[in-house]
Amino acid sequence: MTALLDTAERMSRDELAALQLERLRATLHHAYANVPHYRAAFDRAGLRPEDCRSLADLARFPFTTKADLRDNYPFGMFAVPQEQVRRVHASSGTTGRPTVVGYTEKDLETWADVVARSIRAAGGRPGQKIHVAYGYGLFTGGLGAHYGAERLGCTVIPASGGMTGRQVQLIQDFRPDVIMVTPSYMLTLLDEFERQGVDPRTTSLKAGIFGAEPWTEEMRREIEERFAIDAVDIYGLSEVMGPGVAQECVETKDGLHIWEDHFYPEVVDPFTGEVLPDGEQGELVFTSLTKEAMPVVRYRTRDLTRLLPGTARVFRRMEKVTGRSDDLVILRGVNLFPTQIEEIVLRTPAVSPHFQLRLSREGRLDVLTVRAEARPGATPQQRAAAAASVAAAVKDGIGVSVGVEILDPETLERSVGKFRRIVDERP
Ligand code: DLL
Repeated sequence: MTALLDTAERMSRDELAALQLERLRATLHHAYANVPHYRAAFDRAGLRPEDCRSLADLARFPFTTKADLRDNYPFGMFAVPQEQVRRVHASSGTTGRPTVVGYTEKDLETWADVVARSIRAAGGRPGQKIHVAYGYGLFTGGLGAHYGAERLGCTVIPASGGMTGRQVQLIQDFRPDVIMVTPSYMLTLLDEFERQGVDPRTTSLKAGIFGAEPWTEEMRREIEERFAIDAVDIYGLSEVMGPGVAQECVETKDGLHIWEDHFYPEVVDPFTGEVLPDGEQGELVFTSLTKEAMPVVRYRTRDLTRLLPGTARVFRRMEKVTGRSDDLVILRGVNLFPTQIEEIVLRTPAVSPHFQLRLSREGRLDVLTVRAEARPGATPQQRAAAAASVAAAVKDGIGVSVGVEILDPETLERSVGKFRRIVDERP
C-alpha cells in the first residue's frame, strides 16, 4: 500500500508542518498582492502577510465568508489575470447571486491529483472503471470526480445525474468497479434496480464514494448492506476546490483525512470565531495552500465537525459532517439537524430510508413533520407502530415533539443529486 502513496502522504508531521508554513506564507502574499478584498481586509486588521511566522499566527488574520465572495461577484476574488483562468465553476445558492470560483491550469492539476488520491484511499485502483453520477456542469462534483478518476488511470463513465433507468442499465452493461454519487441519489438508484428486478447486491460495484451532502453511519450501513459494497465519504466545497478536500480511507472508515498539504483546516467557535483545540466541535475553516486563481484565506464553511489525529494517513481527520449551520432547525428552542432524524428513520423497521422534513406553522408555533415512506409490504399495524416509534425516538433523543407521517412507498420526491431534506412551508 505504501508504494502507492503520494510523496506528501509519506511525510512526517514535522515535514508536513514545514511545507504548510511555507505554502501558507506564499498564499498570504499572493492574496494580498493580487486581490483587493484581501489587501483591504488585512490592512483593516493591521496585518501584513509577513506577520504570519508560524501556523498559529494564521488565527490573527481575518475570516472570509460567502458574503465576501458574493460582494465580489463574479470574478473579484480572482488573483490572476483572466487569460490564466482555465475554468470556472459556480454554486447555485438558494438566494441571490451564485458564488463563482476559478482555476488555473496548475489548480486543475492539483484538483485532479487530490481527487485521484481520494479515489485511491477509497480503494480505487488504476485500470478500474468508475461510474460518475455526480452532476456535470457548474457544480464541481461531476468534472471534479471525472478528472481525478482519469488522473488515477481509471476508465471514466461520465453518466452525470438523472435518467435513472438508463444509469442502472449502464451499470449492468459496463460493469464499473466504483461509483461516485450523492448518497441520496444512490438510494434512488437502489429503488430503480429493484424496480427493474435486479438484485443490487449482484452488480459489479465494489465501492461507492459518497459526498456533497451530509449522511450518517446508519445510511452507510443501509447502502453497504443493500449493494454489498464499501461506502466511504468524500468532502469538499467549491470555494476551497470542489470534491477531494478530504476523503475517508476504506481500511478504517473513521472520518475523512484532510489533504492538509493543500488545504489548511481550523475549527472555530461559530459564534466568537475563536480557534478551538483539535477534538472540539465547531465550524470548519479552510485556507488554501497552493491555489493560484482563487486563494481563500480562513474561509468559513459553516460545516460543523471536529479535527482528529491521523490514522490511516499522516493527515488529520475531520469527523463526518453532521450538519451545516444553515440546516439547523430550531424548534421551540431545541436544536435539530436533519442527520439526527436520518439516524432514527434508518433504525426504524418497516420504514424506508426515503424521508423529508416539512416545516410549517400552526398559529405562532413552528411544527416539524417527519414524512417517511413505508417499506414495500409493510402492514398498516407496522406502519402505525413505526410512526409512534419515530415520534418517541425524536422526543427521547432530541427532546422535542414532532409529527410523523408514514406514506405509501414511492410517494416522496426522489433525489437526483444534492437532496433538499427540509421543505420549509412557513409563511
Ligand atoms: O458539494 C463538492 C462535492 C462534490 C463534494 C461531490 C463531494 C462530492 P458545493 O456544491 O460547493 O461543493 O457544496 C459544498 O456541501 O460546504 C457541505 O455543506 C456539503 N458537503 C460536501 N461534501 C459533504 C460531505 C460540493 N461529505 C457543501 N458530508 C459543503 C457532508 C458535505 N456535507
